[in-house]
Amino acid sequence: MIKSNKLRHVALIMDGNGRWAKKRALPVVFGHNKGMDRIEDCIQVAINNDIEILTFFAFSTENWNRSNEEVNHLLKLIKKLYKKKKKLFLEKGICFNFIGSKKNVPEDIMEIFQSFEKETSNCKNLIVNIAFNYGGKLEIVEAVNRLLNEKKEIITEEEFEQYLYTRGQHDVDLMIRTSGEQRISNFLLWQIAYSEFIFTETLWPDFNEEEFEKCIEEYKNRSRRFGAR
Ligand code: FPP
Repeated sequence: MIKSNKLRHVALIMDGNGRWAKKRALPVVFGHNKGMDRIEDCIQVAINNDIEILTFFAFSTENWNRSNEEVNHLLKLIKKLYKKKKKLFLEKGICFNFIGSKKNVPEDIMEIFQSFEKETSNCKNLIVNIAFNYGGKLEIVEAVNRLLNEKKEIITEEEFEQYLYTRGQHDVDLMIRTSGEQRISNFLLWQIAYSEFIFTETLWPDFNEEEFEKCIEEYKNRSRRFGAR
């Protein structure tokens, strides 16, 4: 791990869509629609700031417990991201990357992820990880199970990282959670070992370019010591 203040990887917990919609007496799906627009804003800010990786928490392993209507809507938004934003990804040189467990993911969604990854695999400007059917503990357990299958015994941290969904990627420098909640919610447990955290009161659908720039400014003023003096 290179220890510096350079902002290479930002992870975003996009919380508050439901509350944003409720405040306006709208169904929750309106909050998710508005939230989807913010992803494009963040991508632009990331490109402007030479950020290498953006990771969005789109759907956790626990989110399947939401109503059928809400789950189906979120699946629809994934399809829309592929259909409507693939051009933007290609034009801006953005590589799409699915991170999450493949178990129980509907076949059509898995096919979309695979096509999106393949079609953008030569893009060099930014990696966008979409965490879908993602759980941090599950990611570690799946890595361990693969190691066991391969009959590996003693390994280093660097070798272990190659078994995570984020293999080859730099650890998270900054994790942002919107909506005032101050939790990690089982997100990227390994990769946040030395992350900086920003918890903002802003609800995700209101997290525009200016809000993200403010977080980046705050990060730049932090002093990262990685356990040293
Ligand atoms: C949490 O807010 C948000 C989610 C569970 C989904 C996040 C999804 C998007 C922003 C848009 C979809 C993007 C893709 C790529 C599918 P919440 O609904 O839990 O908000 P609440 O805590 O106010 O109820």
